[in-house]
Amino acid sequence: MASPLEDELGDILQKARDGRNWSQKDLAQAVGISVSDIVRAERYEWIPAEDQVAAMAAALNLDAATLWAIAQDRYVPEPVEADPGFDMTCLEVFMGAYPVKCYLATCPETGESAVVDTGANPEALIKTVREKNVRVTHILLTHNHPDHAWGLGKLDAEFQCPAWVGANEPKPGGSHDLRRAQEGDTLTVGRMTVDVLSTPGHTAGGVSYKINRTVFSGDCIFAGSMGRANSSWQDLFESITTRLLSFPEDTRLLPGHGPATTVGGEKTHNPFFRGRC
Ligand SMILES: [Fe+2]
Repeated sequence: MASPLEDELGDILQKARDGRNWSQKDLAQAVGISVSDIVRAERYEWIPAEDQVAAMAAALNLDAATLWAIAQDRYVPEPVEADPGFDMTCLEVFMGAYPVKCYLATCPETGESAVVDTGANPEALIKTVREKNVRVTHILLTHNHPDHAWGLGKLDAEFQCPAWVGANEPKPGGSHDLRRAQEGDTLTVGRMTVDVLSTPGHTAGGVSYKINRTVFSGDCIFAGSMGRANSSWQDLFESITTRLLSFPEDTRLLPGHGPATTVGGEKTHNPFFRGRC
């Protein structure tokens, strides 16, 4: 069964307000709704009527029809096809109660593998790697948030391989051989080529990793939404529109939270990006 969407209407409203640098009061005034109703909507306590959602969408540069679909729980991304270029295992793990995804990408010819993010759950990754009897040669971090990078030391001790993180990202602890990744870098894992994409905005040094027709995109874009712009909303928006959504429509997007999706799916169903790229 597909994971539920990472974000609901309330999260999307908050993130879109952030993009305009608007307070809840600003949004309330723009759409003629009380501040307390905006607060209730952002806390998932109230679903506005369709015309109210449309007014919010217009004020926040969101697509009204897709925002209404998400408000009604009607966006379920299409199941993504397997990428013929490599074998991929998705681990759905938890940091406390918070669900996180991390991935194992394996070259089908050599068994050499890359771990993408830690899920703050190195034991689960190590167990999976042992069960699959593959050899991890690369640890690829999309960014240095705890739910993506905690436990790096245990992976380092188990796999004895280098780890990569974006050049502008704070240094994560735990790797004996930490390397910096930047736009244009290519890494070789078995016979797979990994392209590094610079995708800042969620964090200043966030990167994504592309293998064949699949992008491991960390917390940049979620099915139906976008990540939280901890470093720069504009950078994050441009990372998504000019990098991630510039790939062919059947390109798989594998985020750090929520279900997998595709470039075409997000261009069609994501209220932030429909009609914007
Ligand atoms: Fe994050």
